[in-house]
Amino acid sequence: MRMNYLEKKIFDALYDGVLIADQDTIVRYINPAYTRITKVEVDDIVGKPLLEVRPGAQLPSVIKSGKKLLRIPRKVGEVEYIVNMAPIIEQGEIIGGISILNEINDIYKLTEALNQSNMMIKKLEKYMKTMGKAKYTFENIISIDKNSLETKNLAKRIAKKDSNVLITGESGTGKELYANAIHNASDRQNGPFIAVNCATFDSNLLESELFGYEEGAFTGAKKGGKIGLFEVANGGTLFLDEISEMNYGLQAKLLRTLQENTIRRIGGLKEIPIDIRVIAATNKSLEKMIEENRFRKDLYYRIAVFPINIYPLRDRREDIKYLIENFLDEMGRKINRQVNVCEDVMKLLYSYGWPGNIRELKNTIEFAINMTDEDIIRQEHLPKIIQSEGVKKNLVKLKNLDEIIKETEIAEIKKVILIYGDTVEGKKKAAEALGISLATLYNKLKQ
Ligand SMILES: Nc1ncnc2c1ncn2[C@@H]1O[C@H](COP(=O)(O)OP(=O)(O)O)[C@@H](O)[C@H]1O
Ligand SMILES: [Mg+2]
Repeated sequence: MRMNYLEKKIFDALYDGVLIADQDTIVRYINPAYTRITKVEVDDIVGKPLLEVRPGAQLPSVIKSGKKLLRIPRKVGEVEYIVNMAPIIEQGEIIGGISILNEINDIYKLTEALNQSNMMIKKLEKYMKTMGKAKYTFENIISIDKNSLETKNLAKRIAKKDSNVLITGESGTGKELYANAIHNASDRQNGPFIAVNCATFDSNLLESELFGYEEGAFTGAKKGGKIGLFEVANGGTLFLDEISEMNYGLQAKLLRTLQENTIRRIGGLKEIPIDIRVIAATNKSLEKMIEENRFRKDLYYRIAVFPINIYPLRDRREDIKYLIENFLDEMGRKINRQVNVCEDVMKLLYSYGWPGNIRELKNTIEFAINMTDEDIIRQEHLPKIIQSEGVKKNLVKLKNLDEIIKETEIAEIKKVILIYGDTVEGKKKAAEALGISLATLYNKLKQ
């Protein structure tokens, strides 16, 4: 059995390990891959009986029987591989056999990597589902006051149109909530809802978040490039929160996108068509920023087709009571405890200025629920700044002089004990320093 030059070249080049033995099971050839996989060198094996060098080898039985043996797993030391063995037959006669070795590690590693990618894809899909969804609808927006009812009705009407929307209002008035609700009431409700806060990115980063980039667009660009949020939001709504924080240059790029309905990734040449509705929000006056040349007038007209202004909470006080009740229910359900506010507190919360609007109200209720162990919220459970509003408005129940004296006494005694130490000896000294007897000191502490 002789191999010609070309055959040898081909076998030498194979990635799989190859061993050829003659009909007497003497090894005639191994290729470099065989050495790579098994660490057996040519000189150790060629010209020798196979079983002598590789005890347990099955090729001899294949040569004897003339039957193939396929996919036989083998493990030598750390290396695992799969062997396919076949007889070599010439003119009906078995003249030898061939073993072909596939390293299992390669297959194994690939499978492992594939499994991991699959898991990652599943995670991402799950994440994308929540990320691309708007949580709230108009039903979640509490509005009883005639001012807020007006806003809600306007927003409902606008939701059905497919134009861009600009929502203005102080921080915490519900701009993001409205953006959610508008998307969910629109024809795009089944498309994605993607929220971006323009204030959380510096301008270069914001540009690449929105437009994406091609591989190699700039140093630090990820391999394979990156898809931008315009593309992610395709077919749905893009909520641009705090749009006033977008820099002037990027504003021009956004305007162009809204006019042409296409985007180009950074470093890319292709125009990608996109179909999105933009809902922008701001708590700053864009009109004023236009005067100061900090916001583009042309962009303003593009996004402010339908402006919605949300009143600050102090201008729709009738909502306060209902919001409080709603938050009490919501949070009470979580802790399995129905908590209410006493009348004094309701009055105070009604008249308070709420500079942080509904967000502040919500946080206040959460704070108070955590401060009370009962099922009623009293003034002392409120955050300090709201309590002091109450003092100003004379809403706090005053303590009588006796109570004040007692409290002050005890506080002073405790201070002195802290100095001398909380032992009998320390207390003796404290009493002495305060000019009272030890018995009186104990008495006062007991109260
Ligand atoms: N009318 C409302 N009814 C119920 N909850 C509201 C209402 N308006 C705002 N909220 C709640 O107040 C918080 C602040 O609202 P958000 O939309 O984030 O305000 P903004 O975006 O204007 O700062 C959120 O928890 C939101 O769910
Ligand atoms: Mg917000």
